[in-house]
Amino acid sequence: MNAMNYDTVALDEAKQALVIIDQTKLPNAIEVISLTSLKEIWDAIYLLKVRGAPAIGVAAGIGIYLEALRIADTANNFDEFYQRFLKAKDYLNSSRPTAVNLSWSLNRMEQVVLQNKDKTIDEIVALLHEEAMEIRAEDIRVCRAIGEFGLTLIKDGDGLLTHCNAGKLAAIKYGTATAPMYVGQEKGYKLRIFADETRPLLQGARLTAFELQQAGFDVTLICDNMAGAVMRNGWINAVFVGCDRVAANGDVANKIGTSMVATLAKRYNIPFYVCAPTATVDMATATGNDIVIEQRKAAEITSMWYERPMAPLGVKVYNPAFDVTDNELITAIITEYGIVRAPYDEGFREIFSRKAR
Ligand code: MRU
Repeated sequence: MNAMNYDTVALDEAKQALVIIDQTKLPNAIEVISLTSLKEIWDAIYLLKVRGAPAIGVAAGIGIYLEALRIADTANNFDEFYQRFLKAKDYLNSSRPTAVNLSWSLNRMEQVVLQNKDKTIDEIVALLHEEAMEIRAEDIRVCRAIGEFGLTLIKDGDGLLTHCNAGKLAAIKYGTATAPMYVGQEKGYKLRIFADETRPLLQGARLTAFELQQAGFDVTLICDNMAGAVMRNGWINAVFVGCDRVAANGDVANKIGTSMVATLAKRYNIPFYVCAPTATVDMATATGNDIVIEQRKAAEITSMWYERPMAPLGVKVYNPAFDVTDNELITAIITEYGIVRAPYDEGFREIFSRKAR
């Protein structure tokens, strides 16, 4: 079974279900699951069955559409429909705090409701369906564009390091950090990819190494604490990572350990690129200090992957799921509108004004 043949996130129209690859089962099993209730979808996001900022956004869009369908069956008027829609939206939005794509997608869906107040509830639900499908289709186009721009920054034969999984499994088709790799592969580039295993949930080992191997890349898995060694060996020409939220000043929240990789890259003069759909750029967040960082359970570090606990019982644990990479460590941020360099706030303002046109 090849994971590349499966959709990361899709809508099953007949069953009215959100269909995902259960990423907690990878790489040992490719299990495709269908989720119908809002609670099941909330759990899937919370438990990282579907994860990665763009994939979470797409799943939330489809999830809220499915709930709107249900609400429409019993809502007596627009106000009742809207109030129940808002409650479902807030609930889904509480599943994870850091990836802005979640609220971005849910807000887009809410705008569809608000801008079509004068239509019947059935017509509004049809428009919500259209919007959810557009969010999904857009992800493919956006990641492709990031891939094309990213490819201009590398050359055939390069060694690239990536952290966590910002691949197809974190989006719909190309991923973000992996988009230049997939587009390069299409054009015949032979790239050497180094994947950090990404403690504690091992998205690099379980997901990135897996999907890149299945896609036929030359991929080498390393522990997180080996990144300095491979850089010093001269094996890395550039680092590409994804992100969960980019602040207006260019500070970037991404999987825990990203800032360590960026610091090392600076030490070894290796360009450090962040691949960010504009959906992940949050101009309402001024700096990285304003980003809420998800904290997770101690067991992920102490016992989850081991036959027996590998830390003393009751030891204090700090387990933030993300960290902030300061903008001065970032060589450039690659969006679907082009490559942005410091000062980032100016670059983003220019891009958003182009996007609004
Ligand atoms: O906790 P996760 O697995 O959802 O974290 C994912 C990441 O940190 C990714 O790098 C980020 O969401 C970008 S995905 C294109």
